[in-house]
Amino acid sequence: MSGRQDRFDLRGRVALVTGAAGGVGRVTARRLAASGAAVAVTDIDKSGAVGLAKEITADGGTAIGLRLDVTRDESVSAGFATAAHHLGAPVDVLVNNAIVACPVPPRFHEAPPLLWDTDLDVIVKGAVRCAQAALPAMMARGDGVIVNVVSVNAFAFFGHPSYSAAKAAIVSLTRSLAVEYGGHGIRANAVSPGTIRTPAWDEQIARNPATFEALKQWYPLGRIGEPDDVATSICFLASDSAGWITGSVLTVDGGLTAGNALMARSVEGS
Ligand SMILES: NC(=O)c1ccc[n+]([C@@H]2O[C@H](COP(=O)([O-])OP(=O)(O)OC[C@H]3O[C@@H](n4cnc5c(N)ncnc54)[C@H](O)[C@@H]3O)[C@@H](O)[C@H]2O)c1
Repeated sequence: MSGRQDRFDLRGRVALVTGAAGGVGRVTARRLAASGAAVAVTDIDKSGAVGLAKEITADGGTAIGLRLDVTRDESVSAGFATAAHHLGAPVDVLVNNAIVACPVPPRFHEAPPLLWDTDLDVIVKGAVRCAQAALPAMMARGDGVIVNVVSVNAFAFFGHPSYSAAKAAIVSLTRSLAVEYGGHGIRANAVSPGTIRTPAWDEQIARNPATFEALKQWYPLGRIGEPDDVATSICFLASDSAGWITGSVLTVDGGLTAGNALMARSVEGS
């Protein structure tokens, strides 16, 4: 695309990204295409998905934009069938990325059941639906990659219990898939981002424009993440460069979960 060949070689791959009209998904779809993959840009937001696919195509990449609602079985199966039809082969790289953003989550004891239902349906069952749609063709080909976008919230509490529990569940799903389908040449991994500058934060930033500035202090690398930080890791895991990596979680969090810099400084007395 635009003469730029990304560092990972995904030529010949057909990738499908869920939630690809959002912050991380958009850049991931772009980077997969720049690495040579044909990309199904999918989202519940059809115009966002179609618009991005047009941009990728105009840039010299191969993409199709589709409305795919990960909470609907028929939408998922239709999306995978349409992607295979238009992109010339079944999906062999699946990126489970969609979420419903909830920038200011309620406290646990005040959370309505609908919030739990939504997070579990979109994040957990959405990933299950898409993996089940992708696996038969991957098994037939003896090759395939699934990358689940999780979160530091899967491993420690940073707020938002229902989202955190759902993300923890797909860490487990990642390991199940890796072990159960490794014999078919299929790899399954997860990326675990810390705070990433995306539209998921828009409502919170409107309330408090200094949010990212305040969050920076918790990150040993001194900044919050950008979508490209996550997209690069996804492209790596999707590529043959990660050919012997499966069942793993790649932490992409600027050092957040490596320890607590503020606590360390207070222990040192500085
Ligand atoms: N932004 C962060 O700080 C952060 C931190 C850790 C992990 N992540 C993870 O990164 C991924 C992307 O997050 P983001 O910040 O880009 O979010 P985002 O809100 O910008 O994008 C999410 C996308 O998912 C789509 N979506 C919602 N419901 C859907 C459905 N039923 N079917 C299909 N698509 C649907 C939305 O339309 C949206 O385009 C998520 O898995 C998220 O958990 C983000």
